[in-house]
Amino acid sequence: MISIIGAGRVGSTIAQQLVLRGLDDLHLIDIVKGLAKGQALDLSQMASGSNSDITITGSDDYSSLNGSNLIVVPAGFARTPDMTRLDLLSKNREIIKYASEKIKEFAPSAMVLMVTNPVDVMTYLALKITRFPRERVFGMGGLLDSLRFKTVMSAILGISRGSLDTLVIGEHGENMLPLDRFSSSNGIPIRDLISKKGLEDAVLETRKSAAQVISLKGATIFAPSQAVATMVEAVVSDKKSLIPTSVLLEGEFGVHGICMGVPAILGAGGVERIIELELDASEREQFAKGQASLTKAIGEMTV
Ligand code: NAI
Repeated sequence: MISIIGAGRVGSTIAQQLVLRGLDDLHLIDIVKGLAKGQALDLSQMASGSNSDITITGSDDYSSLNGSNLIVVPAGFARTPDMTRLDLLSKNREIIKYASEKIKEFAPSAMVLMVTNPVDVMTYLALKITRFPRERVFGMGGLLDSLRFKTVMSAILGISRGSLDTLVIGEHGENMLPLDRFSSSNGIPIRDLISKKGLEDAVLETRKSAAQVISLKGATIFAPSQAVATMVEAVVSDKKSLIPTSVLLEGEFGVHGICMGVPAILGAGGVERIIELELDASEREQFAKGQASLTKAIGEMTV
């Protein structure tokens, strides 16, 4: 069973994506009475339209996490146009602390995929509270940023999204690191297809693209939900997919003791492997900015 804690805009859209993929039974939890149950009923009726027989349930009771193999966590406040992701820290800390305690109590063998922002910090918090191994607690951020980078590059280059591979690592936030050196069109490095200035503008646009969506429609929903569903599928179907994932670093990329987005292999064991990249000086500098910002945020948080 896949559980989703937080049945709001992102949680319910993740559920919709997962119903369409039909990977496993689904369970939703929300503190708002009736909300998760209502979403489950609506989604069950949708499943009938595709003749899917997965079971979809909802509850406001955390004990119903019992039996979950993978728990996706998009519970809590989303930012408004005037906020950065890190501004959400004080608002979401207590929610994630509580959810993590309940996960530990009712689903001690489950894997946890954190979505709530600031996702790198919340992944760290969930890890500390549950005391699960790092393989089992990871966060979604870099894959979404990579989709955004791909969207920007596809429009600039006039090349199909299907012919582009893009990679963004580092902090899921102001200091993300779009890696043009590791992004390509069917093997051709994108930096060979665009001017230096064009590339710099594309990176800036990628960094701003979430804020742009939030200022236009109030929240980012479809793209994050698609990214989460891809990560869930990688785990549930043991796909061994290489996906930028927020994970506790224990020396990889020269970082110790914080969660950050890095390329990882996701499969039935959760984060099965971290792929280390040789970053050049300017990439290292940008990665280090994210590291410093997350180290500060984690340091200010009392677990
Ligand atoms: P939303 O407000 O639509 O939904 C949040 C839901 O969480 C609400 O239904 C609320 O009742 C529920 N909730 C609050 N406290 C809870 C608790 N203790 N237990 C269970 N449920 C609880 O917000 P939205 O737009 O769905 O965003 C959710 C989170 O996902 C935000 O923190 C947002 O920043 C984050 N997010 C992260 C992304 C990423 O790339 N990692 C991308 C998009 C959103």
